[in-house]
Amino acid sequence: MAPQLRVRCAYYAKRYVSCLFYRRCVRRHLEIFAVHQKERFHIPVLLKEVIEYIKLFEGGVYADLTFGEGGHTEELLRGGAKRVDACDRDRATLERYREGGEFRSDPRLTLSHQPFSQWAEVCPPYLYDGILVDLGVSTRQLLTPERGFSFADSGPLDMRMDPDREVSLLEKLEEVTEKGLAKVLEDNTDLFPAVPIARAIKDAVRRRELKTTADLIHVLGGKAGKRHPATVIFLALRMWVNDELGEVEKTFPKLISFLKPGGRLVVLTFHSTEDRKVKQVFKMLAGKCVCPPESRRCDCPRVKLVEEVLKKPLDPSREEMRRNPRSRSAKLRCVARSVL
Ligand SMILES: C[S@@+](CC[C@H](N)C(=O)[O-])C[C@H]1O[C@@H](n2cnc3c(N)ncnc32)[C@H](O)[C@@H]1O
Repeated sequence: MAPQLRVRCAYYAKRYVSCLFYRRCVRRHLEIFAVHQKERFHIPVLLKEVIEYIKLFEGGVYADLTFGEGGHTEELLRGGAKRVDACDRDRATLERYREGGEFRSDPRLTLSHQPFSQWAEVCPPYLYDGILVDLGVSTRQLLTPERGFSFADSGPLDMRMDPDREVSLLEKLEEVTEKGLAKVLEDNTDLFPAVPIARAIKDAVRRRELKTTADLIHVLGGKAGKRHPATVIFLALRMWVNDELGEVEKTFPKLISFLKPGGRLVVLTFHSTEDRKVKQVFKMLAGKCVCPPESRRCDCPRVKLVEEVLKKPLDPSREEMRRNPRSRSAKLRCVARSVL
C-alpha cells in the first residue's frame, strides 16, 4: 500500500475507534439517565400549569419548598432559572437526589433538609420571583411500607415525613387522650363525630394491640391491600403527625414577604381540608375577613398583601388524570405579592 494511503487509512481507523468510544460513552450516559428516570416514582403534578403560573423566565430566582423527587425544580432549571433554593423535610429524598439527580451538581440549585416553616425563619438574602409549595407526600413515600403511610402493605405506625425530628404515630397515639384524638380526627377530616373511632383506637393502644398499619386497619374494620373507607383516617393521622395544616398557617404569611412585588406563590393541594386551609390563608392575605360566620367580632388584619391570581383553583386536565391518576384530586392556587 502506498504510504499516503496507509496514513489516510490509519487516520480513518483512529476516527472510527474514537467515534465508537464516544458512542459507547453517550449510550452509557443515557442508560444511567434512564435508570434514574425509571427510579423516579413521583410524577410532578400540574407541571405545565405550575411553570405558567409561577411565571418562569430566564434569570428568575425561585424557591421550591417541597422538593420531593425534584420534578418541578428540574423544570424551573431547564427553563433558565438563575437560582432555585429548595428544601424538603425528608432527608432520604434529598440524599437520593444528591446521588443521582440530573441537576445534582448544578451550582444554581441549593438543597436543604428542613421543614418549610424552619426555612422561613431565616430571611433569605434576596427576594424571589416565585415560590412553589407542592403539599403532602410523594408517591415514593406513600409506596415505601417502612414509612407507615400506606394502606397497601403493612408497616410500622410511623407516618413521619422526617424521621429525624418528629414523634412517630405510635408514640403520639400513646400520649393523646381519647377526647384529644377525636378532635384531631374531626379537625383534619369532615368526619363527625369521631369519638367512637377515637375510642376504638385508644382501646387497642391500651391493650398493646396496635403496632402496625395492618393492626390499625384491623381496628378500623378493613383489610390491608384494599381501598379502605378509613383512608380518610390515615390521612388525618398523617396530617397530625406532621402538623401539616400548622405548617401552612404559620409559614405562608411569611413567604409573601420573601417575594418581589408581583412575585408569585403557587400551591398544590391534594385534599379538601388542606385546600380549605390554603384558601382561607390566601383570603386573609388578600385583606378579606375569614372569621367564622358565628363570630361577633372581626379580628382579621384586613391588610391587602396579595392579589388573587386565580379566583378558583385549577384542576388537572383529563389527559393528566388519565396519565397520572394520583393527580386526580390536585388543585392549584396562586397569589401574587401586591405591588405597592
Ligand atoms: C408532593 S411531594 C413534592 C413532589 C415534587 N414537587 C416533585 O415534583 O417531585 C411533597 C414533598 O414535600 C415534602 N414536604 C411536605 N411537607 C413539608 C414541609 N412542611 N416542609 C418541607 N417539606 C415538606 C415531603 O417530604 C415530600 O417530599
